[in-house]
Amino acid sequence: MIIDVENVSWVRDNSIILKDVNWQVQPGEHWCIVGLNGSGKTTLLNMINGYIWPTKGKISVLGHKFGEFDLRELRKSIGWVSSSLQQRLYGSETALNIVLSGKFATIGLYDEFSHIDLTKAHTLLQLLGCEKLVSRKYDTFSQGERQRVLIARALMSSPKLLILDEPCTGLDVFARELLLSMIDNIAKQPDAPTLLFVTHHVEEIMPMFGKIILIKEGTVFKSGNTFDLLNTDILSDFFDAPVDVERRNGRTWLLPISNSNYG
Ligand SMILES: Nc1ncnc2c1ncn2[C@@H]1O[C@H](COP(=O)(O)OP(=O)(O)OP(=O)(O)O)[C@@H](O)[C@H]1O
Ligand SMILES: [Mg+2]
Repeated sequence: MIIDVENVSWVRDNSIILKDVNWQVQPGEHWCIVGLNGSGKTTLLNMINGYIWPTKGKISVLGHKFGEFDLRELRKSIGWVSSSLQQRLYGSETALNIVLSGKFATIGLYDEFSHIDLTKAHTLLQLLGCEKLVSRKYDTFSQGERQRVLIARALMSSPKLLILDEPCTGLDVFARELLLSMIDNIAKQPDAPTLLFVTHHVEEIMPMFGKIILIKEGTVFKSGNTFDLLNTDILSDFFDAPVDVERRNGRTWLLPISNSNYG
């Protein structure tokens, strides 16, 4: 099993942030994690990456039980792209150096790299459509370009698990479609990592994400096959607001019915 979360709760400052979460990810599956602001998505991912520990329950990731394994080693098998990482990178680094630094999981490039690493970094930049950015400095990139360079960086260590925490934030509709098509492309590569994709927007869920976990107020509202769960009844209950859905090209588009219950 890739991820096994068993009856996990996380309590901070007397509030229950996650409550009795159960979640199993099998090899070959790609998952979307959907929930409103503050529902606990990033907290759950922080736990999978070993940044925080469950108050209650058990977690194992890539076959390693937490508490019985060196987390630093485990993290080398997990690629992570998030807005907090984006802010920590150095603006004066080139795209190439940023991608190369992914091999060593460092902010900045300090280690020696091989010719093979260099070829791999170029191939990844190409896969993410960033070949023109190779020698440009990170602080000159658009938001969409930054996200794509960060994904290339995360792939540099050939992770078994790739976590994308709201990668489409701040992208215009076309930049978003481009990024989604590139994520789709990553999943089609030989030895592709298991993908976990966090979003607030159901229309970003590409057909490759066959599984979905809906998180509401720190609990698993529902999890299972994407197409079984993305329907009018379940999503209206999930969002506590009447919504309709439309299916197009294997994706689901959310349509608010009336705004009387929103906010
Ligand atoms: N270290 C912490 N101490 C106290 N509360 C925390 C801590 N980390 C997160 N929380 C709280 O836990 C809740 C869930 O936060 P989390 O970041 O997991 O939400 P999220 O689903 O990722 O939201 P968003 O979509 O806005 O990113 C929030 O109310 C947040 O304030
Ligand atoms: Mg979050």
